[in-house]
Amino acid sequence: MNKVTIVTLAEAKASQTPISMVTAYDATMARIVDDAGIDSILVGDSLGMVIGGQENTLEVSLEEVAYHCRAVRRGAPRPFLIADMPFMTYQASVEEAVRNAGFLLRQGRAEAVKLEGGLAVSPQISAITAAGIPVVAHVGLTPQSVHAMGGFKVQGRHEAAAERVFLDARAAVEAGAFMVVLEGIPQELAARISADLAVPTIGIGAGVGCDGQVLVCSDLLGMNPSFQPKFVRQFVDGYALMRGAFELYAKAVGERSFPNESESFSSPAAAQRKAVGGDLTRLY
Ligand code: KIV
Repeated sequence: MNKVTIVTLAEAKASQTPISMVTAYDATMARIVDDAGIDSILVGDSLGMVIGGQENTLEVSLEEVAYHCRAVRRGAPRPFLIADMPFMTYQASVEEAVRNAGFLLRQGRAEAVKLEGGLAVSPQISAITAAGIPVVAHVGLTPQSVHAMGGFKVQGRHEAAAERVFLDARAAVEAGAFMVVLEGIPQELAARISADLAVPTIGIGAGVGCDGQVLVCSDLLGMNPSFQPKFVRQFVDGYALMRGAFELYAKAVGERSFPNESESFSSPAAAQRKAVGGDLTRLY
C-alpha cells in the first residue's frame, strides 16, 4: 500500500472515495491500524481521556501530544498523521499557534495539525498554512469548548446554529484548511457542508454524508462498555476479549501452568540432560 499524503486525500475527495481515519496514541496500536489499511491516524487530544482517564481534553499538553505522535509515527509510517493542537496552544495568539504547530511537526513528526474552530481561529489557520504546515479544522461539537457548550452536546440543530457551523467550516477552508472535521452535528447539515466545500470533510457523529469518518480507537474496539454513545459502532467487543485474556492469564499464573517448559529457559547443563532424556551416560 502506498504512503498516504495530502495529495492522496484531495484525490479521494475528487473521486468520492471515502477516507478512513482513527485515533491512535502508541506504536503498537498504530502498527495494527497501518496494517489494516486505514488512510489516516489522528493523535487526538482525546488521549487525555483514553490514556489519562481525564474527564475532558483540557489538561492535555503540547509535549504529551508530541510524545504520543512520535510513537505512532514509529509504528505507522504509511497513514497520513495528524496531531491535535491542545487547548490554549493556539487560541491566545497567532505567533504562538505557528510556533506550537511547528513543534508538533518537528517533535511529533506529524504531517498536519488539527485545531478547533472556524471563523474565530481563521487568522491562526492562515498563518500556520503560510508556514507550510497543513491544517485540519474541527467545527460543530468542539470538545475544548465543553464548558462554553454546557457539556458534550450536538451542535447546529436549529437554523441559526446550523448556519454558524456552516460559516465556520467555510471560513476555515477560506483561511487555508485542507480538511475539516465535523463533529456532533445533524447529518443533513454535515452533508450540506460536505457538498459545499472543495476539501474533504471527516465526520464523527455527523452521518454518512461526509467524505470520510473518524472514530476514537478504543470506542470502535469496544474497550469501554460504560461509554456507548449513539454515534459509535463497536466493531468488536474488545472489553470482553481483553478481560477474558487477562482472566486466563491470572488463572494460569495461579495454578502454575504458566510458564510451562517450552516457555522457560534452562541452564546449558540441564538442557543437555533433558535432551538425552536423563540418561547421563549418553552425554559422555
Ligand atoms: O481528539 C480527538 O480524538 C478528536 C476526534 C474525536 C475528532 O478530536
